[in-house]
Amino acid sequence: MKGYQKYIPFKPISLPDREWPAKVIEKAPVWCSVDLRDGNQALIDPMNMQEKLEFFKVLCDIGFKEIEVGFPSASETEYETCRELITGGHIPDDVWIQVLVQARPHLIEKTFRAIEGAKNVIVHFYNSTSTLQRKVVFKKDQKGIIDIAVKGAELIKKLTDECKTCENIRFEYSPESFSGTEGDFAVEICSNVLDVLEATPENPVILNLPNTVEMCTPNTYADQVEYFIKNLPGRERAIISIHPHNDRGTGVAAAELALLAGAERVEGTLFGNGERTGNLDIVTVALNMYTQGIDPKLDFSDLPALKRMYERITKMKINERHPYVGELVFTAFSGSHQDAISKGFEYMKQSKSPYWEIPYLPIDPADIGRQYEPIIRINSQSGKGGAAFIMEHVFGYKLPKEMHPEFGAMVKAKCDQLGRELTNEELMQVFEDGYLNIEEKYRLLSHKLYESSEHGHAIVHFEGVIEIDGKPFSASGEGNGPIDAFFNALRKLGIADYEFLSYNEHAISSGSDSKAIAYIHLRIPDDGHVFGVGIESNIYYASIKGVLNAINRAEKLKASMSGGNA
Ligand code: KIV
Ligand code: ZN
Repeated sequence: MKGYQKYIPFKPISLPDREWPAKVIEKAPVWCSVDLRDGNQALIDPMNMQEKLEFFKVLCDIGFKEIEVGFPSASETEYETCRELITGGHIPDDVWIQVLVQARPHLIEKTFRAIEGAKNVIVHFYNSTSTLQRKVVFKKDQKGIIDIAVKGAELIKKLTDECKTCENIRFEYSPESFSGTEGDFAVEICSNVLDVLEATPENPVILNLPNTVEMCTPNTYADQVEYFIKNLPGRERAIISIHPHNDRGTGVAAAELALLAGAERVEGTLFGNGERTGNLDIVTVALNMYTQGIDPKLDFSDLPALKRMYERITKMKINERHPYVGELVFTAFSGSHQDAISKGFEYMKQSKSPYWEIPYLPIDPADIGRQYEPIIRINSQSGKGGAAFIMEHVFGYKLPKEMHPEFGAMVKAKCDQLGRELTNEELMQVFEDGYLNIEEKYRLLSHKLYESSEHGHAIVHFEGVIEIDGKPFSASGEGNGPIDAFFNALRKLGIADYEFLSYNEHAISSGSDSKAIAYIHLRIPDDGHVFGVGIESNIYYASIKGVLNAINRAEKLKASMSGGNA
């Protein structure tokens, strides 16, 4: 027998008239956080009371109105935390705390002691119903399993009727491992529980259908939920809740399809903490809705703060690729993605579109507090657009489009040389090394630019001293602008090989210092072309420096091609 042959394939139920595939999610469900119970049970070091109280407050701030706070009969910390929440006034009036208990009499009794004095409380009881658990763990038939649930429900009903200190008590029942339970049996046991608890449409009971161990594809779970809802007698007596786990990595998909199948309530945790591979990640499901234009009714506008709190308290680490929250999920390294993102930003700016239409970014990072993180980072996979994007968005240098390939090649060469990503500062260094302060063959020692007028036309004059290979030469020229005048002066010194192609300029400010940057594009002999950049407080000076830098770069290039020095 081969390894894989020891596994029994999951048998999907037959639901030929399924309706969920044609449905769409249109509104947020009721959310219930189980971070403090299911999530907590899965931690190496479970939370202490202070941590639970802090986490509880954050959950309330996010907007959860139903929060499973623990398993009070399971440990003293759990019990005491429940007491502190109630007696310490930590629970907002509109929030329901939920407590979990097995359908066992002494545990139910202890749970009722734990909730004394609560304003709004959901008593959540469960027993396992799956074929496997019945066979292996409980060694009981279906009737025996129904008996456990019914007896639990009877005691809960009785203690509720006797309880004088709680204002509102509601019930939740989970046929634990629902997805491994025969559909009809799940319906039968839940229907019995509804009867005992005297559920009505006015006072519905939450029926929670756990995918305790995810063993099938999400469509199968959706089929099971739809089957359950369609076959439950007096369906309006129940609020259908789902509780997906993530063993196959499809917890989010299972939840979304189960919502299509009619689930009204979702249990899960922040970032999917929970037993084994975790519970359903509520943040992902909620933000998936948000990006479809649906108000999820949960506030995730500061995800980085939530991540910090979560990692500190749970001591778990969120993966860099985790949807929405992962460190790298808004970062593009690849050239084509960077290019499309940068065009998307440009499109948004130009079109003033009220809609978010940026390729590769399914959500505006600013909506979840991630606007200050780099969307574009530079490594050897990156393209020209990415480097230009950072030069513009981080440093305010708007490199002309025709310059992008040349600068992109310099950046790629640097990444290849270092064998790693470049920081923004290193990118700027590549720019400065490549374009600024290049004074190898020609150096402007002094200069003067002034205007005169002839027949009503302005003439710009350049006068200065240019060092050529270490020797100073006086130069003068005139023209219809500073660049023209400077070019004419160069020609007189025999520097005549270069043809002016284009010119761009803009202001850049760093702190209180405002400067001008000029980008000069020159044609060089043998059909090549080259850029030069000048940065000065005076735009004219910036332009002539840019011209000289371009010529110096061309000379360097020439020298490197001929293998000698300039
Ligand atoms: O996963 C599960 O089945 C549970 C139940 C106790 C609801 O956590
Ligand atoms: Zn669970």
